[in-house]
Order: sequence, then C-alpha cells, then structure tokens
Amino acid sequence: MNTIQYLLRWNIVVMLLLGITVSRVASLDFSYHNQNQLEIFLHNASFYYPDITDLYSIGKSVHGVNLWVLAIGKDIKSHVPLRPNVKYIGNIHGNEAVSREMMMHFIDYLLRSYGSNQTVTNFLNNTAVHVMVTMNPDGFNKSILGMCDGYIGRDNANGFDLNRNFPDFFKENKSPVQLETHAVIEWIHNQSFVLSANFHGGAMVANYPFDSYNSTSQTSGASISPDDDVFQHLALTYTRSHASMSLSPVTCPGDHFVNGITNGASWYTIIGGMQDYNYLSVGCMEITIEMACCKFPYPSQLPQFWQKNKDALFNFLTRVHIGAKGFVTDENNNPLPSARVCVVGREPVHFRTSKYGEYWRLLLPGSYTLQAEANGYLTTTVSIVVHDGVITRQDIKLMKSGFSKGFFNHAVHLPLLLLSLIMIFL
Ligand SMILES: *[C@@H]1O[C@H](CO)[C@@H](O)[C@H](O)[C@H]1NC(C)=O
Ligand SMILES: *[C@@H]1O[C@H](CO)[C@@H](O)[C@H](O)[C@H]1NC(C)=O
Ligand SMILES: *[C@@H]1O[C@H](CO)[C@@H](O)[C@H](O)[C@H]1NC(C)=O
Ligand SMILES: *[C@@H]1O[C@H](CO)[C@@H](O)[C@H](O)[C@H]1NC(C)=O
Ligand SMILES: *[C@@H]1O[C@H](CO)[C@@H](O)[C@H](O)[C@H]1NC(C)=O
Ligand SMILES: *[C@@H]1O[C@H](CO)[C@@H](O)[C@H](O)[C@H]1NC(C)=O
Ligand SMILES: [Zn+2]
Repeated sequence: MNTIQYLLRWNIVVMLLLGITVSRVASLDFSYHNQNQLEIFLHNASFYYPDITDLYSIGKSVHGVNLWVLAIGKDIKSHVPLRPNVKYIGNIHGNEAVSREMMMHFIDYLLRSYGSNQTVTNFLNNTAVHVMVTMNPDGFNKSILGMCDGYIGRDNANGFDLNRNFPDFFKENKSPVQLETHAVIEWIHNQSFVLSANFHGGAMVANYPFDSYNSTSQTSGASISPDDDVFQHLALTYTRSHASMSLSPVTCPGDHFVNGITNGASWYTIIGGMQDYNYLSVGCMEITIEMACCKFPYPSQLPQFWQKNKDALFNFLTRVHIGAKGFVTDENNNPLPSARVCVVGREPVHFRTSKYGEYWRLLLPGSYTLQAEANGYLTTTVSIVVHDGVITRQDIKLMKSGFSKGFFNHAVHLPLLLLSLIMIFL
C-alpha cells in the first residue's frame, strides 16, 4: 500500500466513524457512483467486512486511476485448497454504465447476505468471488448520462476499445495492448480463475465463445468451441435466472435471440475480445453479458435492473461447482503446478493446474476421459463420471517418465563403463 492509499483508507475510516456518530449512514443507493464514491464504497466494504473481503488493485488506468478488485469469501486472504476463483468485470466499455452499478449492488448483496442467507453463506464458504466494478474508469468519466447509444466514453483514454485489445489466438491483433488490458492479463495469469463474465450494455443477450474465427475462410455463422455444450449451459443459466432475458422476443429493438443467448461470432465477429482470451490462454470459461438496451439510462431505472439481474448474477457463479476438480501430483503426492489437463475429444483447449497443483474442469453430466501431462512425466488418462448437482473429485497421479530416459542414459554410459574396465585391465 503506498502513502496515498494509506491516507485515503484512514481518511475514509475517520469519515465513517463520524458518519456513524452523527447520523445513520445510508446503505448503497440506486444512483451512478463516480470514482471517488466507488472507492469510498469499496474501502467501507472492506472495513466493515474484514474477515470475508480483500480489496486490491491490479494496476492503473491511463489516467492513473486504480483498477480495484474486491474479493469476497470465507478466509479470503488465505489459500484454501480446491476452492475455485470466479470473477466478474463490469464497465469495460466506459459508457455501458449499468453493469458498474450492478457490480456494486452485487457486492453489497453478497456481503449483507453472508451469515443471514444460508445459500449465499454456503456459496461464499466454498468460493472466492472477485469483482472488478470497472475496467475502464477513464471512459466512464467521459460518458454522458442519458445517452443510450453511441461511442462517447466507450474506449479508454488512449482511444482503444478494451474488448478488442487482447491477444487473439486466431487472427493477428494490431491494437497495442493498453494498461488496463495488460493489468487484466497479468491478473488472470497470476490467479487461477475458473469461471467469469464481463458485462456490457446496448443489447440484452448472453454471448459465449468464440467471437473470432479459427480460419481465414469462415466469415459468417457460429464459431463453435470444444466446450460449446458447457458454454450454452452457462449462458442459459444467466438468461433463465434473469427476469426477462430468455423470453424471446423480449429483447432490444432489432435483435432476435433464442432464449437470450448467442454464439459470439454468429452475432458479429470481433478480434481481441476478452472472453476468447480467458478461455484459450488460461482455460477460464468466460461469457459476455449485455444487460441493458440503453447504455447509460437514467438512475430511476437502476432498481428494476437490479431486481432483474440479482438471481442471474448469483446463479451463474454457482455453476463453478459442476464437472470435475482435483490435484495433479507426482508419485509422492507433491502437487504439480502448470500441468496440462484436457478432456479427450475437447482438445486443443488445455487447462493448466494452479500454482498449488489444482485443476477445475466445468463439464455437464456424462462420462469423460481426462488427460494430464507435465514435462518429465508420463501422460496419464483417467475415466470419470460427472453427475448432476455434484462436482466429481478426481486426483491424477503422474509417474516420472524417468525409466526410458534413465535407460537411455545408462545405454550411453555403458560403452564408457566397458571402456574404463578394459583400460583398467590393460
Ligand atoms: C458502510 O458499510 C456499512 C455496512 O454495510 C453500511 O451500513 C454503510 O451504509 C456503509 N457506508 C457507506 C458510506 O457506504
Ligand atoms: C438467499 O439467497 C438466494 C441466492 O441469492 C436467493 O435465491 C434466496 O431467495 C435468498 N433467500 C432469502 C430467504 O432471502
Ligand atoms: C460457513 O462458515 C462459517 C464459518 O466457518 C460457519 O460458521 C457456517 O456454519 C458456514 N455456513 C454454511 C451455510 O456453510
Ligand atoms: C474526470 O474527468 C475530470 C475532467 O474531465 C477530471 O478533472 C477528473 O480528475 C477525472 N476523474 C477521474 C477519477 O479520473
Ligand atoms: C499474485 O496473486 C497473489 C495472491 O494469490 C498476490 O499475493 C500477488 O501479489 C500476486 N502477484 C502479482 C504479480 O500480481
Ligand atoms: C484452430 O485450427 C487449427 C487448424 O485446423 C487447429 O490445429 C487448432 O487446434 C484450432 N484451434 C482451436 C482452439 O480450435
Ligand atoms: Zn460493450
């Protein structure tokens, strides 16, 4: 923590104490919060809920504004083996402002429900939830209240669209990586995220990978990933828990989505999107949620947005507890970090074990073959069955591929040994 952060924190604490003695402090209201108000909210949340929150910044925007993340969960500051990390990122396009407030209300809801709502408490006892309210504070600061369309405030301060700014696995992305994007890239490579969503406005739909085509010849239609069944399930979980998103044709003017979901590319293709990057670089399953027809509606509409999205925001994240998880270890049960785990038939997407040797693989009920590999170890496959409503625990032990190597080494040494013996006898 640098000096300014330190002062800010104490400043807020003093302010809060004054607030408490002078008058009852109001709870989170339905209005748009600027950066200063957002920081007060986040510091206050971590001050009131020190046991279940961890507030950290992953870097700074072009204008030097901290990119805050509030992590929420039981014992959040320590590593709990096999507890999955999930994340939400709001306001990546600065003028798509509804998500910013929804992220704040979601934080408020989780914190207030911990200990009072059994479902939420149980979830937070077993999951680490990381919420980044805004990935584009500079863009938001330029945006105009009441503007439903348009691009003012969409980009970051250098004029780059952050959801076109990630390295693309299929096409060359010439857009230079921005500070905000760089911070997110470092973050997702450091933490092992399993499930994620990023939030937008301007439409009402849950959009899942791929956004980009893995071929120069394809220019229209869906770009299907090997985990299409899981992604559809995830997207449907959101839209069906939402009060109106899955009810076709209740979408925004001009849009026609069945059940409120779409493959990214079959809607329109983009290069450098965040969801494809999450999935292909670190195996984090991310979808993109468009949550409002109007990008920056008047605050009087915020209460109904919250009522409609509240269950969807919660239920989506509970999906992290489906499929299979476990440790990949060596023969002495030492965890193997960065081992590659894939599901046979769903290559080429590989999921890497965390720095603690853990893996998570979201799968629908059925029979699968997991394949784990690490340098210097024999590639190993195991069969698993995934049931509905319960995650399958399957550890995978890898044996050193030392036998063949050892034999090869001995084979090389053998002539030398013979030679030395011969020399001795001569
Ligand atoms: C601080 O958090 C407490 C507990 O959630 C809440 O009652 C209070 O309204 C918050 N104050 C501010 C200024 O956000
Ligand atoms: C507890 O939280 C869950 C998940 O958000 C919600 O569906 C349920 O209605 C809540 N229960 C009560 C009694 O508020
Ligand atoms: C969650 O963890 C707390 C603290 O260990 C414990 O008291 C509580 O019973 C747990 N609640 C649920 C619903 O798992
Ligand atoms: C928002 O923009 C104004 C000028 O337009 C600037 O003075 C202010 O510092 C900015 N706030 C943040 C948090 O960047
Ligand atoms: C990586 O994450 C850990 C928490 O898991 C954190 O303590 C550390 O500061 C992070 N490192 C970087 C470089 O972000
Ligand atoms: C993309 O296509 C190439 C060539 O067909 C293939 O080798 C590769 O595995 C594909 N990548 C993904 C992620 O589907
Ligand atoms: Zn957007």
